[in-house]
Amino acid sequence: MHLIIAANSETFSKLAADFVEQRVTDRPNLCLGTVTGASPEGMYRELARRHAENGLDFSEVRTINTDEYLGLPGTHPQSYRFYLEQKFFRPCGIPSSHTAVPSGTAEDTLKECARYEAFCRAHPADLQILGIGHTGHIGFNEPEDCFADKTHIVDLQQETIDANSVYFSGGEDVPTQAITVGIGTLMQAKEILLLICGASKAEVTYKLLCGPVTPKVPGTILRFHRNVTAIIDEEAIALVRERAPEVLQEYASGEK
Ligand code: PGA
Repeated sequence: MHLIIAANSETFSKLAADFVEQRVTDRPNLCLGTVTGASPEGMYRELARRHAENGLDFSEVRTINTDEYLGLPGTHPQSYRFYLEQKFFRPCGIPSSHTAVPSGTAEDTLKECARYEAFCRAHPADLQILGIGHTGHIGFNEPEDCFADKTHIVDLQQETIDANSVYFSGGEDVPTQAITVGIGTLMQAKEILLLICGASKAEVTYKLLCGPVTPKVPGTILRFHRNVTAIIDEEAIALVRERAPEVLQEYASGEK
């Protein structure tokens, strides 16, 4: 895993946008795996600015999102389809027909999982963007006894529901289930860009880089992928710096 440490949130978002811009410039018809959440927001904003001001062209890019809340239609303001339309697709000129997000309202959820899995396998991501949750989830793959391979329905952990509740106004039920691509689906990406920021991610960042590779912290599997770049801000890397500076050194020298 290649680590890039960002001094602050502005640098974090710019570095992430630089990374994506480079890949889109090299391959205009890039297949891009997307995620939602707080970590990539500044990057999407910066990419939209570069599209508007510098003509960064996304017209041939195809996108595949990792997950969607079960029960929310794409028109719901907290759905991931809505987030992406507002923050990435429209501001960057990506036509909806070039985008894929699993349906949270399919009548037959198992059929939707199989359809989405087949679609992902037929269109492996050239670049998969990922964040990591407090529980260690990637996509919405929560801690389990073994790594979930394919697209599936997941029960969200209470910690994840609590973290997501800030986006839902009082009284509105926060979804407790989601449809997510599996760990196997994610690991087939040719390249992965992992974005981690904020003090609340310091503990999981420590587990990610210094703990054992385990399905109890699903993101640790990324240590077995051969082409991962993690952009981590100073707040999120703080515990690794404090408890295991030698590990940071090993990542910096390419030993890890
Ligand atoms: P974030 O979390 O909202 O901090 O980006 C990512 C995640 O929970 O997967």
